[in-house]
Amino acid sequence: MTFAGRMSKVTVSPTLKVAADAERLRRAGVDVVDLGAGEPDFATPAHVKQAAHRALDGNFTKYTPTPGVMELREAVAQRYQADYGVSFTPEEVIITAGAKQALYNSAMALFDAGDEVITHGPFWPSIGDQVKLAGAAPVIVQTHMEDGFTIKAAPIVEAITPRTKAIIVNSPCNPTGAVISETEMAAIADAATARGIWVIVDFTYEKLIYEPVAHNLIKVLFDRMRDKTVICSAASKAYAMTGWRCGWAIGPKDVIAQMNVVQGHSTSNINSITQKAAIAALTGPQDGVTAMLNEYRHRRDAVHGWLTGDSRIVCVKPSGAFYLFPYIADLLSPAGILSSGEFAEALLKEVAVAVTPGEGFDAPGYFRLSYATSMERLKEGCERIKAFVRTLESTGKLTAAR
Ligand SMILES: Cc1ncc(COP(=O)(O)O)c(C=O)c1O
Repeated sequence: MTFAGRMSKVTVSPTLKVAADAERLRRAGVDVVDLGAGEPDFATPAHVKQAAHRALDGNFTKYTPTPGVMELREAVAQRYQADYGVSFTPEEVIITAGAKQALYNSAMALFDAGDEVITHGPFWPSIGDQVKLAGAAPVIVQTHMEDGFTIKAAPIVEAITPRTKAIIVNSPCNPTGAVISETEMAAIADAATARGIWVIVDFTYEKLIYEPVAHNLIKVLFDRMRDKTVICSAASKAYAMTGWRCGWAIGPKDVIAQMNVVQGHSTSNINSITQKAAIAALTGPQDGVTAMLNEYRHRRDAVHGWLTGDSRIVCVKPSGAFYLFPYIADLLSPAGILSSGEFAEALLKEVAVAVTPGEGFDAPGYFRLSYATSMERLKEGCERIKAFVRTLESTGKLTAAR
């Protein structure tokens, strides 16, 4: 069978593959500690679920306008006004099936064959693959563990060529947890403005920032280049609503209208009941968001301490999102485990801990561990990881400590 040429350029999401492997083991009765999941372990807040019940009972179950009901687009605008002091109209918002579709719509609306799109690595795989599906080429500017994976403007600006159509910034970043500073964002915006380049921000983890740093990226961009800014975000992580599928893109009216065309010919509106739930999430009390953030911070600190208690595991303490990204390349051995992919496979097979290998994020030598699971499971997972490292080291399958 001959598939479209574009299919040869993309791969199945590695994060989904780990979940499938872990699920297979679980079904076979194994007690898997799943640190692969990229989603909150918390339940969706009660008032959000109640809004969904009301929508269902009220038969709010038909098609809605493709870009979402007006009340929800307004709710997004009000939330950003309250949180970031920026104003935009509902026509500058489209409601999408998660941040993923917001980013996908942006790619379809803006990128052509021959375009280059710069982003920073290690990166969430769909960013690169969506660029490829649009026929364009991702250009990856690496960030480095040595300086906490800081996203810097200078190397991104240096990567600009006459073909550059857009720069995609993911902050807080999956998998590194890095949070871009407003100064670096402003420098990127100034360079982009000078060259007529779009800036797209994947703001999916906007509510998950652990230190009190200024992160008003939307204001920084609106002040400088509002006509070429797209912000993509979602209810998924902030409100523990990954399965509901609600995200949004905020951008100039004409781009939002183009995204509406893409969405109108592909998925149409998102689930009607979800829309009512998302209105409740965005307009209702926000203290649940803070409570989850505090719990994630607590877990981050604990897991970071447990893992780095073994000096062979090197790991930056992340500023945002809910992942740790330990470096294990120095542990790999020609006599046994050769790559972080093999490390993750063996970890699952030997001690039933699921993590995501760095290869999936264009970062061999690392693995990603999600701390969006209970403290008890995190402790168990860390103990198993450390025991695994000790055992392999003693059998020569991993390099001994230096
Ligand atoms: C960086 C990043 N962007 C976007 C998404 C997609 O989020 P959603 O579930 O809202 O589509 C994810 C999900 O894990 C992510 O990690």
